[in-house]
Amino acid sequence: EKGGYDHFMIKEIFEQSRSIGDSMRGRLRSEDAHLQLGGLNNYLDKLAEADRIIIVGCGTSWHAGLVAEYLFEELARVNVEVEYASEFRYRNPVISEKDIVIAISQSGETADTLAAIELAKSKGATIFGVCNVVGSSIARATHAGAYTHAGPEIGVASTKAFTAQVTVLTLIAIAMAKRKGTITEETYRQLLIELEHIPEKVAKVFENASKIKEIAFIFTYARNFIYLGRGLNFPVALEGALKLKEISYIHAEGYPAAEMKHGPIALIDEDMPVVFLATRDSSYEKIVSNIQEVKARKGRVIAIVTEGDKLIPGMVDFVIEVPQTHEMLTPLVSVIPLQLLSYYIAVMRGRNVDQPRNLAKSVTVE
Ligand code: F6R
Repeated sequence: EKGGYDHFMIKEIFEQSRSIGDSMRGRLRSEDAHLQLGGLNNYLDKLAEADRIIIVGCGTSWHAGLVAEYLFEELARVNVEVEYASEFRYRNPVISEKDIVIAISQSGETADTLAAIELAKSKGATIFGVCNVVGSSIARATHAGAYTHAGPEIGVASTKAFTAQVTVLTLIAIAMAKRKGTITEETYRQLLIELEHIPEKVAKVFENASKIKEIAFIFTYARNFIYLGRGLNFPVALEGALKLKEISYIHAEGYPAAEMKHGPIALIDEDMPVVFLATRDSSYEKIVSNIQEVKARKGRVIAIVTEGDKLIPGMVDFVIEVPQTHEMLTPLVSVIPLQLLSYYIAVMRGRNVDQPRNLAKSVTVE
């Protein structure tokens, strides 16, 4: 069952070089520019006409929604709002028949997400589900949807379900962009080709596992951690911090890197580990100056960088390389080292990584 691994979580982390491919299987073929999500076929016009998409979810699924916000806005030029299901359901949200709600849930049983769906439905919105568990309550409550096909996720900390959600949401964003004509044929083809390469790039990140383990060893007894990223890597920073909190019980915070100087920078001293998502993308120069700001205050920096980066290794304490990909697909590779880092730290602290205290795999009560 654990396939020779010590925990389900590490098995599921390593499965991602396969599961991401499973999320795309039969849906995407770059050689003839094919992209189709069966469950959404009848809704593509509706998607293309939507003025706004509201995404709801909790925890890691909410983080996948934040990634999707960048994807939908950038590629499909549609206004997106991402909401915690628990907040959305208790407001009096302005929703109409023109709205599309995308509910994201691994288990498909999260009580708050289900209630948010029922509320939006009662106001006439069209609801799509992005669920992992087939036949789950949320999958049944939605009008249409696309399963993530990550396979059963047993570890309480969500890993392969997150990358599967991001993969499926990327496919939806590209399909919508294509229908609306908001991306060029060239970008469309390039994204499909790059998506097909993601599984092997994720496998490449695994080659750094022993290095990540060494870094984990050094920071095993840290009391706090800060995770910083910009753009698409901002939700990845939130996800990295959540993974560390839930399984190692180390206090961790994720922030958009530019927000640091509005408060959190006061926390930086020689005892503060700061994980930077510093891949080579349109935020690179800005992230480099944020790293300098942290180093000037003696923070200990672990940077996730793009393979071959020559600048950042000379500035920081530790680097972990990830392969280059299309900027829009970065989270699928940059989140992997963060999952591994939290796993190894939690194991070294002797935590029950598959079943952390106080947590349940599906949160069926509000
Ligand atoms: C994080 C985690 C939780 C879930 C959240 C939503 O690792 O496991 O934050 O992501 O409870 O669960 P689903 O996706 O099942 O709705």
